Parts: sequence; structure tokens; C-alpha cells
Amino acid sequence: MLNFSFKNSTQIHFGEGQIKALSQAIPKESKVLVTYGGGSIKSNGVYDQVVDVLSEHTWFEFSGIEPNPKYETLMKAQDLIRQHDIDFLLAVGGGSVVDGTKFIAAAALFEGEDPWDFISKGQPINQALPIGCVLTLPATGSESNANSVVTRDGNKLPFQSPLVQPLFAVLDPSVTLSLSDRQISNGVIDAFVHIMEQYLTYSVNGKVQDRFAEGLLQTLIEEGPKALVAETKNDLDVRGNIMWAATMALNGLIGAGVPQDWSTHMIGHELTGAYGIDHARTLSIVLPAVMKVCAKEKREKLLQYAERIWNLTEGDDDSRISRATELTEQFFKTMQVPTRLSQVDLGETEIDGLIEKLTQHGMVKLGEQSIITPEVSREILMAAL
Ligand code: NZQ
Ligand code: ZN
Repeated sequence: MLNFSFKNSTQIHFGEGQIKALSQAIPKESKVLVTYGGGSIKSNGVYDQVVDVLSEHTWFEFSGIEPNPKYETLMKAQDLIRQHDIDFLLAVGGGSVVDGTKFIAAAALFEGEDPWDFISKGQPINQALPIGCVLTLPATGSESNANSVVTRDGNKLPFQSPLVQPLFAVLDPSVTLSLSDRQISNGVIDAFVHIMEQYLTYSVNGKVQDRFAEGLLQTLIEEGPKALVAETKNDLDVRGNIMWAATMALNGLIGAGVPQDWSTHMIGHELTGAYGIDHARTLSIVLPAVMKVCAKEKREKLLQYAERIWNLTEGDDDSRISRATELTEQFFKTMQVPTRLSQVDLGETEIDGLIEKLTQHGMVKLGEQSIITPEVSREILMAAL
């Protein structure tokens, strides 16, 4: 196992009715800005619950944070923050609202010229407003990690700082009942791929990390499809297990002390940046291709994955690996997401542009061994046609 330091500082309030925890979790003297998206929280009753619970707080609101949040939208919150001396942000929504709020939090106290610089130029984030969140879509893990992804002019780029990690996250599975099938699927796939990118690398004998990762993968394979069929989709245990699995998938625990490979995400971000494809649907297209093109480097872990996740113990190594890849794709199909570029109307002619963007964004040495050069990314995209 590799050396690591691990801490996850986000307090989780899990379970039905936990939105009430907000009244104690946010200091009473705070001036709170409640941030949210396009209005789903108004139609499913989450907004009303938050309003009730904040009755003793001074609060304001900022809405309109879109999926794949945009720099221009997020910068609009800055005036409100200054005008009302906001000193606490409460994000209520999915990963986009939480990510967007992280950017708002850091931008509010940024002393340089343009807050985009901490993304494009890697300028350090020295301070940020404190954040809490009510998560409404289990997927990204953003509710208890230090990461955020923001888009400006078609450039979708990540940044991270411990200063923007939420102080607390309310995970109430009942608020996920209003999600569309598409968003449920997206969430399960996003979480699944987060786990795979911290697991499917090379072995460092991190037994705890491997077994946790395998347990989370199995949970998503078992529970994900149940959230799409009428008989079980409103079962709060199903929703709760998916929600907790998605949080655990990217809260730092399974990634501590093991190599990681974020190539699927980085290639996927270009597909969203250029063509607006849902985040998870880029991942379901790219991951199977990464499994094929990088099968040699990932051989040992692929065999472990084949045996422990799909019970494949017969046949030679190559056939078990290709069967495990097939079963992964089959799971993605059960979850109703695309697994090929052609299914989202993209073909070979788009690949040059995507490779150019990856290169422009410095994504030229991806993968756990930094050997996924633009040429290898091209092979991956070709394998995804
Ligand atoms: O905007 P509203 O009206 O709230 O509607 C949203 C949005 O249209 C809707 N929604 C959310 N909760 C709902 C609901 N609809 C009904 N009922 C509910 N309870 O769902 C739509 C999608 O929301 P979004 O927040 O965009 O989805 P998700 O949580 O999948 O977030 C995706 C974003 O997170 C980034 C992605 O790149 C993408 O920008 N990621 C962030 C990561 C992180 N911070 O660690 C890691 C991930 O890999 C990912 O990159
Ligand atoms: Zn993701």
C-alpha cells in the first residue's frame, strides 16, 4: 500500500427527515446564502422544508445554477454576497449546485484579479466561505469532498481545495424520489466509475481499499437496477443504499493509499465541454474503451475484478477479462446509459477536436502510470466508436 494521510471532515446527517439538522448545523448568527439549481427543489418540497428549518436564520437565495455549472452564472452570486455580507453558503441540489457553490465560496474571498485563475493558472485558494449542503442527487460525492468542476467557454475543468469541502452534508434518501430515471441512472453510473477509477489500476496490496471498493461496486450493481423498476423504485432502502454508496465512492476513503486513474473522467469532461453530454453518459462510453485499450497495464486488477465482482473463475485470463468488460457494459445498458459514441451521434470525425482539447488542457499524461498520451486517448475514443 502507498503512504497516505486521510481525513474526511464533512459531518454526514443521513436519513429521512434529516433536513431538520440544518437549524443546528448552521450558526444562528450567520448570514446564509441558499444556492440551488433550476427549480427541482421547489416542485419536490425540499425548498419548503429548508425554508421552515431556517426560520430563525437570516438568509437569502441564489438560483439558476445549471448542470455542469458555468463560470458566468456563478460569478453573478458575487454581488449578492457583497450586498448582504453573506458568510455561509448552503447548497441545495445535485453535484452541479454543490460544485458551483464551491466555486462561489472561493471566488467570494479571492484576492487576485479573476477567480478563474485558480482553475486555469492553478493559483492557490487561501480562503473560502464555509459551505454546508443538502444533497438531492446521489452521484458525484461532491457533498463530502474537496473537488469541483466548472465550465467556461466550453472548457470544463476541475479544481480542488480543502477549504471548499462542505462542513456538513444532509443525505435524505426520500428527497431523491423525485429524480427522473435518467438522473437516477446517471448517478449510479457516475459513482460506479468513481470507484473503478480508484480500483482498476495496479495492485499495491491495499486489501482494505480493494474490499471496500468491491463492496461498493456490488452494492451499485444490486441496487441500481432496482431504482429503475416500478416495484422497487420508491423503496427508501434502495435509495439510501445508492446514496451512501455514492458518497463513499468519492469521499477519499477508497482512494487513500492506492494508485488512481482519472482518464475516463478527463476524456469524459471533453465530451461534456464540447457536446453537452451528461457527465455520467460520457463515462459509460469511455470506461469500457479504457478497459480494453489499457487491459495490459490493468491485467492483474481486471482479473481480480472479473473474479470478485462477476464470479468469473473459468477460462483463460484473456477471456475472463473480456467477459468482465462485456458484463460491465451490460450493466451500463441495464442502467439505460449509452456505451458507444455512435449512440450519442458522435463519430470518428469528432475525435481530432477532442484530442486537441485534451492537449490544450494539459491532459497529456493520464492514467495511473501517466502513459495515456493524446495518442492513447485517441485509441480509447476509437475503441468507443
Ligand atoms: O437544477 P435542478 O432543477 O435542481 O435539476 C437538477 C438537474 O437538472 C436535477 N435534480 C437534482 N436533484 C433532483 C433533480 N430533479 C428532481 N429531483 C431531485 N431530487 O438533476 C439534474 C442534474 O443535476 P446535476 O447536479 O447536474 O447532476 P449531478 O449530481 O450528476 O452533477 C453533475 C456535475 O458534477 C460534476 C460533473 O462534472 C457535473 O458537472 N462532478 C463533480 C465531482 C466532484 N465534485 O467530486 C466529481 C464528478 O466526477 C463530477 O465530475
Ligand atoms: Zn464523475
